[in-house]
Amino acid sequence: MLFKQVYDHIMTRIERGDWNVHDKLPSIRLLALELGINRLTVFKAYQLLKQNGKAYVKEKSGYYVSPENSLPNLYERDVNESIESSAVHLNSKLSDIHRVTAAYQFSQALIDPNLLPNLFLSEYVKKVFDIYPKLMGTYSTPQGDEELRDVLCQYIIRHYRVHLNTSEELITTGAQQAIDLLSRIFIRPMDAILVERPTYSAAIDVFRGQGARLIPVDFSPEGYDLDMVELLMKQHRPRFFYMNPTFHNPTGYTLPITQRKQLVELAERYRCLLIEDDAFHDMYFDERPPQPLFTYDTEGWVVYLRSFSKYVAPGLRICAVFGRKSVIEPLITAKSLADNGTPLVTQKIFVHYFQSERMQQHLEKLRIALQIRRDIMEEELALAPIDWKWITPKGGLNIWLQLPDTVPARTLLNESFRQSISFVPGQICDPLDEMQSWIRLSYSFVNEEQIRAGVQQLAEIAQRIKER
Ligand SMILES: Cc1ncc(COP(=O)(O)O)c(C=O)c1O
Repeated sequence: MLFKQVYDHIMTRIERGDWNVHDKLPSIRLLALELGINRLTVFKAYQLLKQNGKAYVKEKSGYYVSPENSLPNLYERDVNESIESSAVHLNSKLSDIHRVTAAYQFSQALIDPNLLPNLFLSEYVKKVFDIYPKLMGTYSTPQGDEELRDVLCQYIIRHYRVHLNTSEELITTGAQQAIDLLSRIFIRPMDAILVERPTYSAAIDVFRGQGARLIPVDFSPEGYDLDMVELLMKQHRPRFFYMNPTFHNPTGYTLPITQRKQLVELAERYRCLLIEDDAFHDMYFDERPPQPLFTYDTEGWVVYLRSFSKYVAPGLRICAVFGRKSVIEPLITAKSLADNGTPLVTQKIFVHYFQSERMQQHLEKLRIALQIRRDIMEEELALAPIDWKWITPKGGLNIWLQLPDTVPARTLLNESFRQSISFVPGQICDPLDEMQSWIRLSYSFVNEEQIRAGVQQLAEIAQRIKER
């Protein structure tokens, strides 16, 4: 039951010394907000703490940590507890949305499979099996195939002129797994972490699942308010700052170069790890994005997640994580506990395809195709009689759209689902669970005709809601 988990969180923190005897515990409202759960759940956890003599109440003030007590522990697992009620409760709001089948899938920030070199890739698979006849019978090491790590390490060195070697690299099954493994290593219940507002929804769910306190950092087209970031680092001593600074999901914004350098300095000063998730780096339209923050790091305070699973070969789900040994070593342990290594077959297919000339050609064509789709979506949005607003993304896969007050995103989503249109409501990208007048529309998964027809229908639905 969820309230028992909250109880456990609080007990872990008390045992760890985060709150001492007679310290005031956070208010019910605050804890519910931080953990992203219902106030009633927190209330029940506090009641149990009180009942077990772990906390006491001061009238009109709140709950306080009790002195050591000899009261019996009433918190014992009920042997008749069902499997369902004893399972830890996890959220995956994004995949809940993706589960809805829709003819116009504006919710999927994925590349349309028709834009990938499918025939070429399947021919390649045969070649790779010829080169490594024992491939199917071989495990990868948990850290990842040496050949692949070497190729990707050299790629990063060549592009950014950094000092790096293959021991500072780990291969994961997509960036999603890297986010999950990093949270397991660094987050203990109630730890503070910084996240952009808005941010990648699935990362919010992972961090909450580990019991983190999410501290939002607003992300605007100009970047972050660095004075605010400094204050938050000073006040909360966060374990890390999770960021997606290049063609950010969901907004499409890119952090300016000047802020990149300053942020690395802040990270060093306040000993706050920066987790730089760079899933869309090569998806630029007019000009290349600035260098990753990782390339300014000399002290080891940036861990760099470079996923190739979005646009090189989504089915292979390859991501490289770069960082200093102090981060990579525990990550290798976490990876071996999770799955003992990403399948060697996918790593070998990827490494050969990645080095082929065809891959470069594919990337160039893909950028053009995506830019055309973005333009078409913007054209249709501009034609609609709705006063919605957005900033043209210079890369990435999404348009972050602000709806007029007269069109609530919830109502729009419900009615759109009924007409086979899906998109991501901004609220699930917001660590504060607000942003109700924003939505994310992806232009990468649906073809040009579908974009036109889908946006026109979406506009009609919005218009009907507005006129009510
Ligand atoms: C910012 C961000 N990080 C990570 C991921 C997950 O990437 P992968 O497919 O490599 O697991 C996504 C997918 O949408 C994303 O948008």
